[in-house]
Amino acid sequence: MRIALLPGDGIGREVVAAAKEVLEHAARRFDFSFSSEWIDLGAERYLRTGETMPQHVFEHLRDDFDCILLGAFGDPRVPTNIHAKEILLGLRQRLDLYVNLRPVRLVDARLCPLKGVVEGGIDMAIVRENTESVYVGIGGSFKPDTDDEIAQNIMLSTRRGCDRLLHYAFELARTRRRKLVLCDKANAIEAAHGLWRKSLKSLAPRYPDVVATTLYADVAAMRMVTHPHEFDVIVGDNMIGDILSDLAAALVGGLGLAPSASTHPGRVALYEPVHGSAPDIVGTGKANPLAAILSLGMLLRDQGHCAAALAIEAACSQSVVERACTPDLGGALTTSDVTAWICACLG
Ligand code: NAD
Ligand code: IPM
Ligand code: MN
Repeated sequence: MRIALLPGDGIGREVVAAAKEVLEHAARRFDFSFSSEWIDLGAERYLRTGETMPQHVFEHLRDDFDCILLGAFGDPRVPTNIHAKEILLGLRQRLDLYVNLRPVRLVDARLCPLKGVVEGGIDMAIVRENTESVYVGIGGSFKPDTDDEIAQNIMLSTRRGCDRLLHYAFELARTRRRKLVLCDKANAIEAAHGLWRKSLKSLAPRYPDVVATTLYADVAAMRMVTHPHEFDVIVGDNMIGDILSDLAAALVGGLGLAPSASTHPGRVALYEPVHGSAPDIVGTGKANPLAAILSLGMLLRDQGHCAAALAIEAACSQSVVERACTPDLGGALTTSDVTAWICACLG
């Protein structure tokens, strides 16, 4: 198993270092081997060299690894966010990692900001399209920085893109509670989001065992708050999926607990916490490493190390329940304390 570590910026560096420690510990405990390489493409390097993703590094990542564990990209010194866009969105798009899976489960009822929700009462999986929509970067500005400025970004949907993501989501639903809801704004964005509905309508008969419905994304946002237990697999385009995934994370304890996987069968897979580089807490020890550690868990599961993945997931849940966690989850531990706690819990 060859793993590239792409820490990025801010707390991305802190949480990837934490996940690496857990990986090394898990490898000893569960007797598997791996090689890893720390590849530094953060803002520091960009500011020094002007390079974002050199072609040889991209090819190295594409050809020489089974998976990538990424922290987060974004630095206040790069206000255009150009390195983050070219590296993060560039990897997702150039590797065509069309599935972005973001599982969301309530492991401790006290972390839910809603009244009366019990542990286990929220268990959803967001399946976000990861390569299209307004993220394709087609557009630009005309007469920038004048009163006549015109700005445009194209929202792009392809039938192939909708079909392949929905196939994935239907198959996933079959391993869960067999409910799928497509969230879109087809009432306003007729063409690009209407295509998602056409795709759903034509694929649904092939999965008669899955209850497939649609919701407008604004209503979905409301129902995720009022009736979170109703949701199983949630499908959204790149932008809708992005927004709903932070909302969903907030229902179960926040971004510090939200992992994700970006995949395309047969290609190098990318695992990363949903959160960003959190410049407001960098260097304070307050960064919660659990989202990155849970992303490592997803990586190990996909690589066939199921026992290690399950143990990591259980250790993370236990640390939350026992409040052996960072302040965002009501604990008083630091990033490295939590990491040591998880390793000790793995035995
Ligand atoms: P953010 O996710 O970095 O932070 C939002 C809030 O959540 C902050 O208050 C932060 O302190 C808190 N938070 C986030 N992760 C946490 C953790 N692990 N532990 C404890 N608290 C945590 O979002 P933002 O502030 O909007 O963005 C900061 C930068 O990160 C921007 O440049 C943005 O573009 C970038 N970003 C990158 C990614 C990525 O690389 N995948 C994802 C989101 C945002
Ligand atoms: C995420 C982030 C990114 C996205 C940003 C940093 C471009 O919010 O991974 O969820 O929108 O995909
Ligand atoms: Mn996001």
